[in-house]
Amino acid sequence: MVLALDFSGPYDKRVARAEEVLGATMMGVAAVKVNHHLLLPFGLQGLRRVIDMCRGEGLPLIADLKINDIESTNLNIVESLLDFGFSAVIANPFVGRDEGLGRVVEKVHSREGGILFLVYMSHRGSDEGYGLRLEGGEPVYRVFAERARDWKADGVIVSANSAEKISETRGIVGRDCLIFSPGVGAQGGSARAWESTGADFMIVGRSITESADPGKALREVKV
Ligand code: XMP
Repeated sequence: MVLALDFSGPYDKRVARAEEVLGATMMGVAAVKVNHHLLLPFGLQGLRRVIDMCRGEGLPLIADLKINDIESTNLNIVESLLDFGFSAVIANPFVGRDEGLGRVVEKVHSREGGILFLVYMSHRGSDEGYGLRLEGGEPVYRVFAERARDWKADGVIVSANSAEKISETRGIVGRDCLIFSPGVGAQGGSARAWESTGADFMIVGRSITESADPGKALREVKV
């Protein structure tokens, strides 16, 4: 499981709570994902201890910035992340390869990092974007999965609640590209149902981070 270290509520308590939740769960997770909840108010400098805690346990740290800008900005983002100890970043393949993500993938790999592409998100409106059909009928999510395979992404994000999209994605990306699935827990998805999809890692946030006992919540979510 990938722990989504997401917190809302008072800013002056978020980092301490992140460290507390990490301390209670880090032995039972495969990686940690950090999103704007922490990165926006505190930045990389303010998350030094969280980053060090993860690195100390050998836990890969994924930055969920869904990068989606021009190449020079994307390169700047990944350089900062890697310099501060992040291992991987999530990107939106919508932005394209040429002057978009092509050199970003190369840069991340040259520094032994990873890049994960969004393929199909888990919120209800996902189909309005990722499910759009191109001329000829192919849906956008299939094109994004093909990009992940062809541009050599290390992983893809596909909703835990779309077993058929996970299966289609696997058929396209094969076994070398990991499938990460958010949507279990707070968004209603069940870990048991997800288990049979064949995805590699579920991503779980609020059902653990908002629990009074995160260690117990982690054990309860795990299949
Ligand atoms: P929860 O609290 O819903 O957190 O377990 C999920 C985390 O994953 C991020 N994320 C996504 N969430 N569908 C999602 O539901 C997606 O496609 C997706 N991509 C990333 C979400 O922002 C939160 O950090």
